Amino acid sequence: TVECNGETFHVYITQEELQERVSELGEELSRHYEGRNPIFIGVLNGAYIFLSDLMRHVEISCEVDFLKLSSYGDEKVSSGEVTDLKDIDADIEDRNVILVEDIVDTGLSMKYIVEKLQKKKPASIETITLLHKTEATRHDVQLDYVGFRIPALFVLGYGLDYAQEGRNLAQIYILDGE
Ligand code: PRP
Ligand code: MN
Ligand code: MG
Repeated sequence: TVECNGETFHVYITQEELQERVSELGEELSRHYEGRNPIFIGVLNGAYIFLSDLMRHVEISCEVDFLKLSSYGDEKVSSGEVTDLKDIDADIEDRNVILVEDIVDTGLSMKYIVEKLQKKKPASIETITLLHKTEATRHDVQLDYVGFRIPALFVLGYGLDYAQEGRNLAQIYILDGE
């Protein structure tokens, strides 16, 4: 178990399970995007660990860029509002975009980002998320690749934070008692 912000968490998805699934997803993307020079767009901060591990299993030419927004602040539940903190720098017109999230919870962030990126006229947009809280998703989002479907539990580690802490944990944890 680990402590984070005064609460105790235990392992939910191990490092081995993560690495196996992430490598599968990277290989799948490599097959689908061969010859299409995709641009991966990571959603900061949460997606940075997943994206960097994922891209090391992508063996075709590709690019990467980032945007940043916030819907959770320091709380355990979504605020229901999205705040733009940083836009992408790359020109994605006529490009094949792969949008990368660590988790889709209510779906608000993913829906907001896809609509925002569509306005930049990419050739295509597909989405990938490491985790999908299926029962919590209330917004209509298109998820093309999902690492793990999980119940509506608060998760921590591998990029996911609790009040900004715990992103560095190598495994995915849930709160004790859940
Ligand atoms: C988290 C997570 C997703 C989003 C999912 O980000 O990384 O981006 O919330 O929630 P939703 O489906 O309900 O929109 P957060 O706003 O906590 O920012 P962070 O990535 O910097 O932690
Ligand atoms: Mn995020
Ligand atoms: Mg967060």
